[in-house]
This record gives sequence, structure tokens and C-alpha cells, in this order.
Amino acid sequence: MEWLHIPVLLEELVSSVKIEKNKQNIIVDCTLWLGWHAKKVIEKMNPSDIFIWFDADIRNLKLAKENLKWINEKVKKIFINSNFVNLKQELEKININEITWIYYDLWISSLHIDEPERWFSFRFDWPLDMRFDTSIWFPASHIVNTYKEIELTKVFRDYWEDSASKKIALKIIEKRKTWFRFKTTKELADLIDETTKFPKTKTRIFQALRIETNKEIENLEKSLKDAIDLLQTAWTIFVISFHSLEDRVVKNTLRNESRDCICSDIICTCKHTKQIQILTKKPILPSKKEESLNPRSRSAKARSAIKC
Ligand SMILES: C[S@@+](CC[C@H](N)C(=O)[O-])C[C@H]1O[C@@H](n2cnc3c(N)ncnc32)[C@H](O)[C@@H]1O
Repeated sequence: MEWLHIPVLLEELVSSVKIEKNKQNIIVDCTLWLGWHAKKVIEKMNPSDIFIWFDADIRNLKLAKENLKWINEKVKKIFINSNFVNLKQELEKININEITWIYYDLWISSLHIDEPERWFSFRFDWPLDMRFDTSIWFPASHIVNTYKEIELTKVFRDYWEDSASKKIALKIIEKRKTWFRFKTTKELADLIDETTKFPKTKTRIFQALRIETNKEIENLEKSLKDAIDLLQTAWTIFVISFHSLEDRVVKNTLRNESRDCICSDIICTCKHTKQIQILTKKPILPSKKEESLNPRSRSAKARSAIKC
């Protein structure tokens, strides 16, 4: 079955993949989903190479297995159902301590938004869950039902800078005082509608909640640092992001890792050493043609760096 998804910055990503003929290339796709990027990357690989595929969502990984069944059969493919925050531990388990190329195509898949059972959207009345991987952490309802007002405001503000953050946090706390506990997306959506008429607020609050539920910002930063550690000298990392929060994490992490010192002390005390050289002083953006063919690509930005 062909699933509808147009991979973003495909040419740019694939053309940056370097494959050497006389060595074993070990490539990691941290966000496989249907593997449209992977499908093109694998065409360039040699039979002795290894391609490692991560997706935190087991349902997406199952679809990927179908989609990638007959592709370049000689390349060794390893599917890992895990959050990319566990990159290092998962690779250790399969005795891989070094890799030659790694990429991320961040954000959720359209299935997460379009299918009600994925629980990411307020368009459907469904359990307030929002986890990529339902076996770990708490569902989003736990955050709404247990965080203090100050914590809720911080989540809403930090992750989407919404001006109604405090008002909504207060309203949630008020509702909880009546022993009400949020269980469904509709219950939260209704509360937001009662609090503000600004149409974008609901989307932003739901996104903030998803980011907090899945610890997306912390996990991305840790995973990027581990990825850089794992890279062999002269090999690259490539990251596509779709919103400013993610792009900020990518930009700052790459910048820090490209410096010899990251403390502000007059005499350096951090002992940090430069690990990478940034290849994209400005982010790579989709061409006008790609934007018109795939409007979703408009917010994409890619950054890349090479290990020193
Ligand atoms: C935008 S899609 C990737 C699309 C893919 N590049 C393609 O061409 O088909 C992002 C995928 O990453 C997964 N994902 C998101 N955050 C993740 C994380 N922290 N760890 C592992 N997978 C994650 C999602 O489940 C989703 O399947």
C-alpha cells in the first residue's frame, strides 16, 4: 500500500549522503516513519553497509517494514522501535560504537494528526494521550491533571509562547478543584474554547502539551549530542526541523559542539572541545518549486555539520 507523504528536502538530504566504496558505511535514520527518505538513501549504499532505522511509534515502524520490504536487499537493515533519545544505548546493544552518517526528519507524521487513534489532534474526541510510544512516561492527561498552575503556564508559554497561557492554566486548575479530571481531547478543547476565542490558541496548547508529554526538546538535544559523539571523523549529521523551537535546539546544539569553549568564564573552566564544523551557516530551505508542490515543506529548515 502506498501511503501519501511527500518527503521534505529529499534531494538536499540524499545528495549530502557520502558513501565510501571501500568501507562499511553505517547510516542511521532517527525518524523513519514510512521511510521515503530512507528509500532514496539506501539506493546509494553498498551491499556490506548497515542501515539503522529508529521510530518511537511501533505502528509507524510496522508500516515502514511493509513499505521497505524489497529495497536493496543486500544492505543490512536494523529496525529499532525506540525514541531517538536512546540512540547510544540502542546502538551499544547491537555492538555499534561508531557511525558514518545520521539524519533526523523531525516532527510527527501526518498519521498522528489524521488518524483519531493517534490522539494528537483535538479534531476528534479521544483519550488525552499524545505519546509516540505508549509504553513509556505518562499520557498528556497526567500533565493536565497534576501539574501546578505555574508549571502548566510554563509549558504553554515555553513551548508556544501563547498569550493565553496563564488564563488557560488557571481555568484548568479551577476545573480540577471540582474533582473534575481531564480524560479526553474534547474536554480540554472545550475548556480552551470557553477561555479564549483566538483560533490558534487551541492548536498551540495542544502542541505544547505534545512537546511536554514526549519530552521532545530535552530528548532532541541529548540525541543530537550523542549522535555527534558517535560519528566518525569527517562524517556528517543532517537535521530537518519544522518549527522554531526545534530549529533553535538544533542550531544551538550544533553551535555549542562546534566551539572549543562554551562557558563564559574569562579563563575557560568547561574544558569543552570542538567536535564538529558546521556546514550550513544559514539553514537549507526548500526551493520555491518544492514549496509549491508541497506546502507542508514551507516551514522546513535543515542544518548539517561534519565531525572534526
Ligand atoms: C516526519 S516523520 C519522518 C518521515 C520520514 N523521513 C519519511 O520520509 O517517510 C517523523 C517520524 O519520526 C517519529 N518520531 C518523532 N519523534 C521521535 C523520537 N523522539 N524518536 C524516534 N522517532 C520519533 C514519528 O513517529 C514519525 O514516524
